[in-house]
Amino acid sequence: MKIAILASGNGSNAEALMHFSAKNQKLVEVALVLTNKKDAGVIKRCQRLGVASGFFDNEKELLLKLNDIKPDWIFLAGFMKILSAEFLNNYYDENLKINRVINIHPALLPLYPGLNSYERAFVDSVKEGGVTIHLVDNGVDSGPIIIQKSFPRLESDSLDDFKKRGLSLEHKMYTQVLEKLAKGTLELPHGN
Ligand code: GRF
Repeated sequence: MKIAILASGNGSNAEALMHFSAKNQKLVEVALVLTNKKDAGVIKRCQRLGVASGFFDNEKELLLKLNDIKPDWIFLAGFMKILSAEFLNNYYDENLKINRVINIHPALLPLYPGLNSYERAFVDSVKEGGVTIHLVDNGVDSGPIIIQKSFPRLESDSLDDFKKRGLSLEHKMYTQVLEKLAKGTLELPHGN
């Protein structure tokens, strides 16, 4: 199975996926990582791990670059742009009736969609934080949910502790979803 990753920032989730594919080359290849931010940390991670990366300015360019490698799936990993319905149509699977695009979100959706979810949950003194992995539609963090997990917020937690616990859960969950998808054992939600 071949995937492409879209990322806009630090790239720790992208790195977790790249590590998994490096260790499981027969199962999955991260063929390309694309970013819409020229100075995104994810680029250095790709260089360090020997994974092809590139920049795109708009969806037309994005599509052209993806067409060169024809990924089976696109994984969004800290990708800070909403993909248009027109773009997503290119990744619509007629048999599965879903877009072959997956996102990870740092909250128990539908709670805290959008930006700064860990921060907002922390300020609200939630008892637990969460992570959601979902199929992408053209709304904001609104596609059908694949898996959700919560993690505790400890009384002694600083925001940084809380975020670190969440991110480490993200890395585990995203890798597991990638593995199951590649093995054909992932239960996918129905249609958008
Ligand atoms: C993660 O919390 C992810 O869920 C969210 O943005 C953050 C990206 O972190 N969408 P990283 O770039 O993968 O380190």
